[in-house]
Amino acid sequence: MSSELDRMADELEKELWAGYSPIVIDHARDPRNVGRIPDADGFGSFTGPCGDNMEIWISVKDNRIQEATFWTDGCSTTIAAGSMITEMARGRSVTEALRITQQDVLQALGGLPEESMHCALLASNTLKEAIKDYLAYKREPWKRAYGKH
Ligand code: FES
Repeated sequence: MSSELDRMADELEKELWAGYSPIVIDHARDPRNVGRIPDADGFGSFTGPCGDNMEIWISVKDNRIQEATFWTDGCSTTIAAGSMITEMARGRSVTEALRITQQDVLQALGGLPEESMHCALLASNTLKEAIKDYLAYKREPWKRAYGKH
């Protein structure tokens, strides 16, 4: 009986993920870097046209991103995109990370179906916000006291 249920669950799972790459499925099921960084050096929050929100925290040392984490209230694809972009940002210089585009995230995820492509854009826009925040505080550190990290 339970093997019949297992089989049905597998079938449903397959249907649910039809059209998604194994990389997307892996990151959606086992997202990396979830949560906030206390005392982050940069924080970004972005809401996409679909209404989903993503937040990204970064810690930076010597102009290099040491850690990047995320949170989202979005769908599984958005979770996969947040997981992937935080992995991609980690270890890069701030300038390199600022250049990560929607296209780069899509490529790293092994592509996304047309209707989910905006999830990768949400991730790249949120990372940009976090880096902009870091750069703004770097220029005017006194503003840190008013930050919302
Ligand atoms: Fe809105 Fe993924 S469905 S960002």
